[in-house]
Amino acid sequence: MMLLGGKRLRPVLTLIATEIFGSNFNLALPAALAIETFHNSSLIHDDIIDDDPIRRGKPTVHKKWSTNTAILSGDAMIILTYKHLEKYAPDLALQLIKAINKMALEICEGQQLDVDFESRQNVSVSEYLKMIEYKTGSLIATSLKVGAIIAQASQKNCDLIYDFGLNLGLAFQLQDDYLDIYGDTPTFGRRLYGDIISNKKTYLYLKTLELLNETDKEKLLKLFGVRLDDNTEKIKTVNKLYLASGIADITQKEIQKYTFKAFESLDKINIPESKKKLLKDLGKELMNRRI
Ligand code: IPE
Ligand code: IPE
Ligand code: MG
Ligand code: MG
Ligand code: MG
Repeated sequence: MMLLGGKRLRPVLTLIATEIFGSNFNLALPAALAIETFHNSSLIHDDIIDDDPIRRGKPTVHKKWSTNTAILSGDAMIILTYKHLEKYAPDLALQLIKAINKMALEICEGQQLDVDFESRQNVSVSEYLKMIEYKTGSLIATSLKVGAIIAQASQKNCDLIYDFGLNLGLAFQLQDDYLDIYGDTPTFGRRLYGDIISNKKTYLYLKTLELLNETDKEKLLKLFGVRLDDNTEKIKTVNKLYLASGIADITQKEIQKYTFKAFESLDKINIPESKKKLLKDLGKELMNRRI
């Protein structure tokens, strides 16, 4: 799983944060590895939860070996996360562990909310935002904060870089929801329409419900209240309703909104503009990602 790569976004954020706050990125390598290991453990468990067959263009761990193997590999990788942190001096290690523990509990809570929402009909957009803040935003924010802690940045700067990451993470998950429908498997490396099949209450679904007339709204609600063996017709109809509501463009605008909100936190950090540019360029690139 680790060797398949993926984008390695989170460890890169850790290394960048250490650099922009004035330390050498080499100091952050064990923490970056810890963060990526934790992320991969959450993906292995997520693929069991979502029963997804493909990740990073290859069969998922539970499909290739077994669910038990996937549970245990994910568990082992959580422990390896902390093993990587053994390399730090006790004071620093404790600070890193505290940040990572807060994040790890939020991921569990976010993932559980995501599952709970599958069988709920009345999820609000604000509940959705809380859910993605926990399941996705928290790790991206913490990846940056961990880098800042290693560089001994001030509390204020640690908080600001965290807020930057949180909003970037919301944009990132909105894009993930978008790519589930409008991506393509060879580049995205995942099956499409998994969120429709599992009745995930994504931004696209929730916002479309607000925009449809009563008849179409009833149709969409009904489709997301059933689990089917053959999803062909369901996917076709949902795609038609998404097209009618113009949700693709609306979601892209929302992604921009959260990316620019993230940049506002970045603007408040007292480091040279040239250092912030790296993160701004990355944020802008992510808005157009297809993988
Ligand atoms: C996927 O994360 C899981 C989400 C939080 C949306 P990534 O899209 O960063 O996955 P990899 O690491 O690049 O494969
Ligand atoms: C995953 O969210 C979040 C975590 C792994 C914690 P998704 O379930 O939407 O991610 P993908 O689409 O499977 O990568
Ligand atoms: Mg998933
Ligand atoms: Mg999931
Ligand atoms: Mg997804």
